[in-house]
Amino acid sequence: MRSPLIALTGVTGFIGGRIARHLSLRGFRLRALVRPESKSRLPGEVPLEVCLGSLADGKALASLLDGVDGLVHCAGLVRGLKASQFDAVNVAGTERLVRLARQSPTPPRLILISSLAARQPKLSPYALSKFRAEQSLARLGEGLSWLVLRPPAVYGPGDRELLPLLKTLARGVVPILGPADGRFSLLFVDDLARAVEKALVCPEVRGQVLELHDGKPGGYGWDELPAIAEAFRGGKVVRLPLPEWSLRAAAGLAALSAWVGRSPMLTQGKVNELRYPDWVCDNNAIGQALDWQPEIQLVQGLRLTLGSARAT
Ligand SMILES: NC(=O)c1ccc[n+]([C@@H]2O[C@H](COP(=O)([O-])OP(=O)(O)OC[C@H]3O[C@@H](n4cnc5c(N)ncnc54)[C@H](OP(=O)(O)O)[C@@H]3O)[C@@H](O)[C@H]2O)c1
Repeated sequence: MRSPLIALTGVTGFIGGRIARHLSLRGFRLRALVRPESKSRLPGEVPLEVCLGSLADGKALASLLDGVDGLVHCAGLVRGLKASQFDAVNVAGTERLVRLARQSPTPPRLILISSLAARQPKLSPYALSKFRAEQSLARLGEGLSWLVLRPPAVYGPGDRELLPLLKTLARGVVPILGPADGRFSLLFVDDLARAVEKALVCPEVRGQVLELHDGKPGGYGWDELPAIAEAFRGGKVVRLPLPEWSLRAAAGLAALSAWVGRSPMLTQGKVNELRYPDWVCDNNAIGQALDWQPEIQLVQGLRLTLGSARAT
């Protein structure tokens, strides 16, 4: 019997690349949607069939889905300023894929990589777009076997967004970006990839939105970060509280980069997310539904992430 053929979006990004690598190692055949200008960012060691095009290209999406058993939709816009930019990719792109999947003679199992941010859609245009994408899937995906995974902040080898912060921690400086009482969950990227595999092979679990984290109940507090960094480094660290006004000022300055065509990571919406006190999630539902448990805890995950960053 031939192994299942899975369509993937977002493989040239951090999370999609690791999902592709994991699924390939587990014997799945892969077909990936890749924008022509991003071909150089394909995960080199992963055998996959390439389908050139973007989420706006209906023809490319139809070829991507032709005859596949599953679809992992991981592509997404994570940087930007305007709601219209996020919606055009995160919402409209998801809607196109769902409509095409429904038209397929044998509709694929569909896994959407959403975000815990979707739990608080009022905080930022990004959060709102991830929430709307979930809603679109629920509305348009009737009859499809779909599942939404809502990861919290994800880190691991190949990450570009959290790496500067993790490197700063490893050097002994701990920026406190969130409120004193704020708590957040984390997830190592390969644990997310294992959850995606479980989601693909359990088609009977459908129509659900599942959160997942690294197994630390109650998540991490911003105030606990110095102790975690000290345990990781084996030495003292300096705590650097960054008040909200300083983050807002930095986001204001970063917005100027939009004038030269860059999309800043730090925006007022991102500051709203950082200052929100409760980004803790719960593994009960996913543990029961998919029999998934995380394997990599924070200190080990940090070693793997920073070790791989040193090696590149
Ligand atoms: N990183 C996290 O902590 C985190 C947490 C929760 C959820 N998520 C979600 O996980 C997903 C992946 O995030 P990431 O951190 O891996 O982001 P990333 O590194 O920026 O990767 C984004 C991927 O999406 C692709 N993409 C963006 N716009 C596209 C378009 N119009 N057409 C086709 N492909 C497009 C990118 O392709 P190009 O290479 O061509 O740009 C890239 O492959 C996103 O949906 C994000 O919302 C991330």
